[in-house]
This record gives sequence, structure tokens and C-alpha cells, in this order.
Amino acid sequence: MSAPAAAPPKTFHVKSFGCQMNAYDGERMGELMAAQGMTAAAAPGDADLVVLNTCHIREKATEKVYSDIGRLRKDAREHGRAAPMIAVAGCVAQAEGEEIVRRAKVDVVVGPQAYHNLPDLVARAARGAPALDTDMPAASKFGALPARRKVAPGAFLTVQEGCDKFCTYCVVPYTRGAEVSRPFVAIVDEATALVDAGAREITLLGQNVNAWDGGDGRGLHDLIRALDRIPGLARIRYTTSHPNDMAQGLIDAHRDVESLMPFLHLPVQAGNDRVLRAMNRSHTRDSYLRLIDRIRAARPDIALSGDFIVGFPGETEAAFADTLSLVDAVGHAQAFSFKYSPRPGTPAATMPDQVPAAVMDERLQRLQAALNRDQAAFNAASVGRTCDVLIERPGKLPGQWLGKSPWLQSVHVVGDHAPGDLVRVTLMQAGPNSLAGMVAPPVTEPA
Ligand code: SAH
Ligand code: SF4
Ligand code: F3S
Repeated sequence: MSAPAAAPPKTFHVKSFGCQMNAYDGERMGELMAAQGMTAAAAPGDADLVVLNTCHIREKATEKVYSDIGRLRKDAREHGRAAPMIAVAGCVAQAEGEEIVRRAKVDVVVGPQAYHNLPDLVARAARGAPALDTDMPAASKFGALPARRKVAPGAFLTVQEGCDKFCTYCVVPYTRGAEVSRPFVAIVDEATALVDAGAREITLLGQNVNAWDGGDGRGLHDLIRALDRIPGLARIRYTTSHPNDMAQGLIDAHRDVESLMPFLHLPVQAGNDRVLRAMNRSHTRDSYLRLIDRIRAARPDIALSGDFIVGFPGETEAAFADTLSLVDAVGHAQAFSFKYSPRPGTPAATMPDQVPAAVMDERLQRLQAALNRDQAAFNAASVGRTCDVLIERPGKLPGQWLGKSPWLQSVHVVGDHAPGDLVRVTLMQAGPNSLAGMVAPPVTEPA
């Protein structure tokens, strides 16, 4: 069986993979263990307990967990250290449960809706037996988490979890469960605490964040308008959105709410209606393009982002060409693109006409060339603009700082700045992945 630590762990390290919701969960697990008196270790090699907060979205992501576990143990052996206690959290924990204990002999397995029980599970594992919890309890874990302490200028806040959409390729509805919204007041309270702890920008998170539902007719735009009134909160963002939940109220908020940043991640996945139907996306190419028109009418400078899958079963060359032409029609500021990965238990995994790997590779290259071209064009078109940059961290060169533009571009700027500063910057030069800016002279009112 497993080789449990002789004493309860005193130091921990959390390593998160996958989406921003996992990053949020990882931070909260860290806070939870710190509240138990444990100390955060900078590297996994210095920790008695390593939490691998895993992602199940594609096969590669899942396999990484097992290679990471092997590496942790090998490193410990080579350095003559005792192997750390290993806890597997996140979506692989939910999907594979017991199987992880069997296959990798880890000490703790805890699902995304159960991690408030992590300290208990760790204590149980320290007594000798592997401890598992992959329940999806009716009561939310959030109430059981400690208060937030110090945070970065750009903070995450999970407001919605789970997914009811059941796209035929996707494991998220199984690993994260049904769509659940956190209560309005709990979110406003956490946002206020984050601002008190140093956040200037909050990104509201959810697997389908724009499906957030206050239960009393209030939608995400009402929440955004309430957060806009928190003193000291300069910027609001949200991700990830589903095209079908893009209510007019939210589109209007992009026109009216100054702190809501002009950026929208709105995955379309593909540009061909037959493929979209087989994916169970419930939007069409045309309905998506019309939606983009309405969003741009409300906020002409909005930066659009998306996700794409190439090589979905049955995707022909002509169908893929429809994705390329949709890309041309939208002009994304940035985007993520993936080769289709069959996931156990999903309907698409057993669909006929699976696309050969070599065809997927070639399509992905063409798609990424188009997306890179559009990203470079978007960045080049920003040169000359003056905007606020939220300073996040020091850059590589002396005196240089790295921050984000309203359109979520990385901007380098030299000067006497500190994390959390909002600096007025003129964008001077565009590279493929970042821009260089210069502090803009202060605006003087005409006499
Ligand atoms: N809720 C979000 C996305 C969650 S997963 C949405 O609906 O858009 C993030 C991205 O991973 C998806 O948008 C999709 O592009 C990609 N993805 C999901 N399952 C995949 C699979 N089986 N193979 C390849 N990419 C996948
Ligand atoms: Fe997955 Fe589709 Fe849900 Fe997004 S909307 S999480 S892609 S099932
Ligand atoms: Fe991965 Fe789970 Fe997020 S599968 S993308 S960590 S919701």
C-alpha cells in the first residue's frame, strides 16, 4: 500500500494545472493549509506534502499527473529525502478517484467540490491509510474556507461552477458537476475582502461564468454593476463564457460599466454548422457571428478571445475551411487552439470518422498561423493608443515592469512603479506576444 509520512506534514506545496478555476482552487487550498499552521514551501522538493491540482481536459493533461508523481518520488530518492505525502486534487481526482490510489499509490485523492476537507484527509493519511473524498455535496465548500489574506493585484474569484452544456467532447460536466452559482452577497463580500487584501483587478471565474444566476432574476451583469461600486476596485473581468448565455444585459454592461474591461473570451470551437451540431454546441456559425456584431456595436474596441478544436470526429477539409473563414471574419485578439482528444465516457470518443493525428497536426498549424497573424495585427493596431496598464511584476531588465492593458495584452514599461499601480501608458511598439509602452505625460487641462 502507500508509504505514509511518519508525522503529519509541516510544509506543503500546491501545483495547479489546467484552467484559472483550478488556479483559484489551488490558492484556496494553500490558504486552508496555512490556516492549519502549515508553511508554504517554494518548491515541491522542500515540501512534506505536495498537492497536485490536476486537469482532465485532454489526455496529455491527465497523463502528466502520473509522470509528475513518478518524478517527485525519484527526486526525493536521488536527494536522499523521504518521499513527500502526495495529494491528487482537481479534475483527474474526480474522474479517476480510487484508480489513482491503485495506479500510483498516492496518499490523498480529493475532488474539486470537496477540497475544504483536505486538512482532515491529510491527517487521516498521516495515520497510515489512503484517504479519498470525491463527493459533490449539496452544501458549498466555499462556506468552509478561511478568509482571504494577501493577494496579487490581479485576483481570481470563482462565482459559478460546473456545466450543464454537455458538449460531446468535454469532461467538465462530469468532473465539476452541474451548474451552481454562488450567492450574490457571498461574492460581493469576497470581492471586498480581496480589494482590502490588495487586489485592484478581479476576474470572475466560472466554467460558464455568464450563466451565473442570482436566483432572483439577477444575472452576471447585475453582479458586475454591484462590484463596480466597490471603492478601490479598478478593473473587472470574467471568464469563461458560453455564446448561448451572452445576455443583452451583459453586452450592455460592456458599453456602460467603465471598470468592466474590453475583453471577452467567448469560445466558438469550430466554424462549421454540422461539426457544431455534432459537438452539441447549440450555437451556429451564423448566430455566433451575429452575436459578435452585437457585442462590437456595444463596445467597438473589445478584444475577442476564443477556443478552437481541430479534428473533431467527422471534420472534413471543407468543414475545417469553415473554421478558417470564421477566424478571418472575427479577427481575434488572442485565442487557444487544440487538437481534439478523445476522452473516456464522452459521446464523441466513440463517434465514427475519427480524424488521423497527422491531419490534426497539419490543421492545427494552419489554424495557429491564422490566429497568430490576427493577434499580431491586433497588437500592431494598438500602437499609439494611450491606456492604463495595471503593473503586475518586475520585468527582466532593470527598471522594467510588466503589466496588462485593458485588452489583456502584456505591456513592458520602464519607470518607478510597483505591483498594483495603474500607470497611464502610450503603447509604442508591438511584438507578437507583448507590447512596449512609455509612461504618458500627465493630461493638462486647457486654461
Ligand atoms: N467552458 C468553456 C471551456 C472549458 S474547457 C467553454 O465552453 O468554452 C477549455 C477548452 O478546452 C474548451 O473550450 C475546448 O476548446 C477545449 N477542450 C475541451 N475538451 C476537449 C477535448 N476533448 N479535446 C480537445 N480540446 C478540448
Ligand atoms: Fe465543456 Fe462545453 Fe461545458 Fe465548456 S460548455 S465546459 S466545452 S461541456
Ligand atoms: Fe481542466 Fe478541470 Fe479546468 S478538466 S480545464 S481543470 S475544469
